[in-house]
Amino acid sequence: MSVLHIVKYPHEALTTPAAPVERFDDELHAFLDDMAETMYAANGVGLAANQVAELRRVTVIDIAASDEPSKLVELINPEVVERSGKLVWEEGCLSFPELYEKIERAARVKVRYQDRNGDEQHIESDGLLGVALQHEIDHLDGIVFTERLKPFQKKLALKRYDKIMARRRADGVED
Ligand code: CO
Repeated sequence: MSVLHIVKYPHEALTTPAAPVERFDDELHAFLDDMAETMYAANGVGLAANQVAELRRVTVIDIAASDEPSKLVELINPEVVERSGKLVWEEGCLSFPELYEKIERAARVKVRYQDRNGDEQHIESDGLLGVALQHEIDHLDGIVFTERLKPFQKKLALKRYDKIMARRRADGVED
């Protein structure tokens, strides 16, 4: 297994839709293992393939706290099939270091996906898992979370992000 490089906004892979997965083979399984390891190494609750510059519809999510047993979910070709209600959640993203924004999403979603063997599965969730599912599926569609803000809020958020990244580059934590 290996930890992959996570690309940061505005890398073009983050704004490009990913392609469906057709082969459920050893290569996919190794990639899923790398995705999970990369997410854990970065202390994230979710990671989409676009964030490691791979344009395939693969995402991993684990909302368990660090002192809880793993609740890893691997989703291939996921699709929201039902959504209801509304909530506002303060979200972060591994591709936008240090930026946290309140985003409005569906309160509850039902997602259809394939597991690592290609078998169809469903997951229904609200709260943090529901938010993570919507955030990660957006990534696969080339939509980053700041796109879910109103235009004025988005402008402010991207301004704040530019400052964050300028400081991180000056500090040598970002290339
Ligand atoms: Co993200």
